[in-house]
Amino acid sequence: MKDHLIIFDTTLRDGEQSPGASMTKEEKLRVARQLERMQVDVIEAGFAAASPGDFDAIRSIAKAIKGSTVCSLARSNENDIRRAGEAITPAPRGRIHTFIATSPIHMEKKLRMAPDQVVEAAVRAVRWAREYTDDVEFSAEDAVRSDVDFLCRVFGAVIEAGATTINVPDTVGYSVPSVWGELIRTLIARVPGAGQVVWSTHCHNDLGMAVANSLSAVLAGARQVECTINGLGERAGNASLEEVVMAVRTRSDIFPVQTRIDATQIVPASKLVSQITGYPVQPNKAVVGANAFAHESGIHQDGVLKHRETYEIMRAEDVGWAQNKLVLGKHSGRNAFKSRLSALGIVLESEESLNAAFARFKELADKKHEIFDEDLQALVSDEEIAPANEYYKLVYSHVCSETGETPAANVTLTAGGVEKSASGIGSGPVDATFKAIECIAESGAQLLLYSVNAITTGTDAQGEVTVRLARGGRIVNGNGADTDIVIASAKAYLNALNKLQFPDRVDPQGDV
Ligand code: KIV
Ligand code: ZN
Repeated sequence: MKDHLIIFDTTLRDGEQSPGASMTKEEKLRVARQLERMQVDVIEAGFAAASPGDFDAIRSIAKAIKGSTVCSLARSNENDIRRAGEAITPAPRGRIHTFIATSPIHMEKKLRMAPDQVVEAAVRAVRWAREYTDDVEFSAEDAVRSDVDFLCRVFGAVIEAGATTINVPDTVGYSVPSVWGELIRTLIARVPGAGQVVWSTHCHNDLGMAVANSLSAVLAGARQVECTINGLGERAGNASLEEVVMAVRTRSDIFPVQTRIDATQIVPASKLVSQITGYPVQPNKAVVGANAFAHESGIHQDGVLKHRETYEIMRAEDVGWAQNKLVLGKHSGRNAFKSRLSALGIVLESEESLNAAFARFKELADKKHEIFDEDLQALVSDEEIAPANEYYKLVYSHVCSETGETPAANVTLTAGGVEKSASGIGSGPVDATFKAIECIAESGAQLLLYSVNAITTGTDAQGEVTVRLARGGRIVNGNGADTDIVIASAKAYLNALNKLQFPDRVDPQGDV
């Protein structure tokens, strides 16, 4: 019998800390439902004290999710813990994850606390957390640069106070597999009460070793890995869930553990997170990249045709790569549409949202005869079905692009319900469209990223555009999809402007 390896997904918390990757409550719910469908053990749904919006999203996820534990992050102060406790209350299984930094550099320069005060704060935090749940995780932030004796002291104290999971983070992505494994082994051997708790690891990818370090921790005795879909996360990201899960499964000869993950849900989860956050997946990314199972060289193709295992260590279908499935067409009715959405884990909360999405589906089905799951995902991502968040809305666009002529665009928008038109010229039709929109919006935002991806195959595919804008220190991503990529671009730009219109989460800093 193999040990169970707990998969703790932090896409909705650490993943959301990637620049511009912030998600709306509805988007977070969709991701959480997909994680539940994938049978993730623990979903870290956010950081309740970060903002009322974060609190609300965690609470909604706690209400909706039955098959996974729902967790909120909290600093080691009373307000954070109480907010986290209130947010997870509706969950059948709720966890509070509290943390405090333990490295000399963080304690001195960031917290301005003495080591004794840090131990005291950690113990108090765990006791408060235990008032809400008996599932309490404690993390020593920047454990990688902490003194091992001090780590043993803090961990021993929080275990005595009631922590049930002890997480060891490589917050800055500094470790290497041999050293990380050794640290976990040492902690498990030396910390008083180590045998009563689950040991966990949380690795960042600054040197590209997050997955390798996490797996080394598993070999050393860790039984929880914290990870994210597509490796999303602060800076270079976190350990990627799909790589950890498939490594453990494919190399079951090496790892004495098994997960309960339904791997066929991995690719749908990857696509969903990429679509919502606007972070594309690199084609050669392990497991979920578009080329992960493509064989280019003749020798490889020949080998695979003769015997698949000559060049394949995993089966594409086992991780959810399937041929694009034709799901609906222009004659499909509202019920078929609704039940396909629910099969994809998409629940539109109101009749109004469902009607708006169905109207868009009919519009799309007129332009594109075959509608795939990916088209439906893009369709419900479209801000048009969430009119409450829409300040700018595209009414009309006309572009002129001719050999030898400067591209020009005319655009009509509603801005706060008032219709306005403008024209612009640019280096291409998209540039001209953005200039025309800016004539109206005068946002002063800086364009950081513009990217286009085809959602499915064929020239009638929808183009999915991501636009990243920055203004006053805030970075937002806007997404838009359409069979016409200029319109998709305009929608993405307006989606980003709409996000800039509304207040963002306030990232809590310092204050323990
Ligand atoms: O990277 C880190 O240290 C964290 C902790 C809050 C676990 O994200
Ligand atoms: Zn982290």
